[in-house]
Amino acid sequence: MPGPEVEEIKGRIDIVELVGRYVTLKPAGSGFKGRCPFHPDDTPSLHVSPDKGLWHCFGCHAGGDAIGFLMKIEKLSFPEALERLAAELGIELKRGGEGRARLLQVNEEAARFFAGELRKPGGKKARDYLLSRGLPEDAWDRYRLGYAPEGWDGLLRALGRLGVETLRELGLVVPGERGPYDRFRDRVMFTIADDQGRPVAFAGRSFGGEPKYLNVPNTPLFTKGTVLYGLHLARDAIRAAGRAVLVEGYTDVISFHRAGIEETVGSMGTALTEAQARLLARYTDRVVIAYDRDAAGEASALRGLAILRGAGLRVDVALLPPGEDPDSLVRNHGPDAARAALSSPLPFHRFFVEALASRYDLATVEGKEGALAEAKGFWPEIRSVPLQHELARELGSLLGLREEEVWAYLRGEGRPFLGKEERSRVGPEEHFVHFLLEGKIPDRVLEDLDLVEFRPEYRPIVAKWVELWHGGRRPTAEELAGELPPEDVPTLTRLALLEVPFSNEAQAVEDAVRKFLYLPRLERQIAEKRARVQAAEEAGDPAEASRLQAEIRALCRERLKLLRRR
Ligand code: UTP
Ligand code: MN
Repeated sequence: MPGPEVEEIKGRIDIVELVGRYVTLKPAGSGFKGRCPFHPDDTPSLHVSPDKGLWHCFGCHAGGDAIGFLMKIEKLSFPEALERLAAELGIELKRGGEGRARLLQVNEEAARFFAGELRKPGGKKARDYLLSRGLPEDAWDRYRLGYAPEGWDGLLRALGRLGVETLRELGLVVPGERGPYDRFRDRVMFTIADDQGRPVAFAGRSFGGEPKYLNVPNTPLFTKGTVLYGLHLARDAIRAAGRAVLVEGYTDVISFHRAGIEETVGSMGTALTEAQARLLARYTDRVVIAYDRDAAGEASALRGLAILRGAGLRVDVALLPPGEDPDSLVRNHGPDAARAALSSPLPFHRFFVEALASRYDLATVEGKEGALAEAKGFWPEIRSVPLQHELARELGSLLGLREEEVWAYLRGEGRPFLGKEERSRVGPEEHFVHFLLEGKIPDRVLEDLDLVEFRPEYRPIVAKWVELWHGGRRPTAEELAGELPPEDVPTLTRLALLEVPFSNEAQAVEDAVRKFLYLPRLERQIAEKRARVQAAEEAGDPAEASRLQAEIRALCRERLKLLRRR
């Protein structure tokens, strides 16, 4: 999180007092509990940890730091929330209009730096990459693409004269134990502009490493989830076309523009926010969503649809051919195919119901129950009564139920949120990530972590933590919250505020490492060798088979030892 004032605000704000203004909090365990203000909550599901400076609702899975709470409950942007807290605490925010202009200037210099590096000999790899993705030089200029060089301080050396503190505030450099270093290293750079075309943020794409896209954190110029990628270039086309096309990715926006669909903007990830919906509503009242099928079918996309509807926008969904995202559709099938895919989109409620139908086996009672339960999860977000009726009707005809029955069920009490079990899951993996966030996992374990060993929803959190650790830090959960995209923060706060019972902490950490990492690794090795035994037997190679059997026995002994420990 950038800026000395932000640090000061975060250091001085009392999260219990702040949340306590809206919620009655009672002491519980090492923190406080209360009824969540973000969903109907009879069991106090909201946990607040003064030690960690974080809150999490174990009912509706919202969470964040103090600033995030104020943003959510008062519907403020990051700078607005900051402003308010600063005023309360009597902290002077140095950012007047002049400060902002200067920050924009520094970002402008950074965009030029990245553009320059792209054209240097060291940028050949990035140039080749862009060309191989069908992006020639004119696109580099129009979209302000660039290259962040390898090494730790290319940008720092080139722009350090503008003030290291400012670079840090803008998220371009990261503090490390051995001093600040470049956030973006060996990445293809995308410039994110505001609706006036001013560079407010950057994202860098790796050539294969994780994370695929790295973004700046929240800064005084950029609040995640409030900007739409490519809007400044799409504004006129949106007005002319009478609609906006919404895609997920940076390359999706560029490819659609180049295919002549210039009214395209990018949500920068799947989860569309209310702020983005309001921004779109300034330019049009109709949005066509063109996400790839997996993403469009995901809960987050459905939530996005409900949010757009909530902002008064008519929403249709274009179904792309399976396996294609907008960028690959243009490149594999040409601009005409892309335009065709957008020509007959499904209205929101039809898409909603079809997405449900495609994910459940509606021939079975269980499938029908699942589909209904999922629909119920989104119900509170659909505020339009006519649309609610439309949906109840569609669902009824799909499930062979009367509209009134569906209606009664959807409005009734019961588990309101989707995937609750998934979210309340606690096992060795959760313990492991919890201890990681506490900084308790030893270096030797961190050195050979592999992201694929984690559930996909935990990977961005682990990846970011490990990245900062490589830079010489052991970030706290609160620090990490400021570095992650907003959609990952609730998962972070859930794991950070998890109560792991133990009598001996070192023992508990060791247990988590053993159960989550070492045992599964052994299991995998054993399974892999068993498969090879079978292959050897089939190939008529008994010597190889018995050699492998011996190895398996050794691994099994090791497993037994691990299991017996403690
Ligand atoms: P995708 O994973 O669908 O990537 O993420 P993409 O846009 O198709 O990228 P290419 O074509 O492989 O280059 C969609 C969007 O989600 C955000 C980015 O905005 C991305 O464009 N994202 C994705 C991140 O912010 N971080 C990530 O690690 C991945
Ligand atoms: Mn893509």
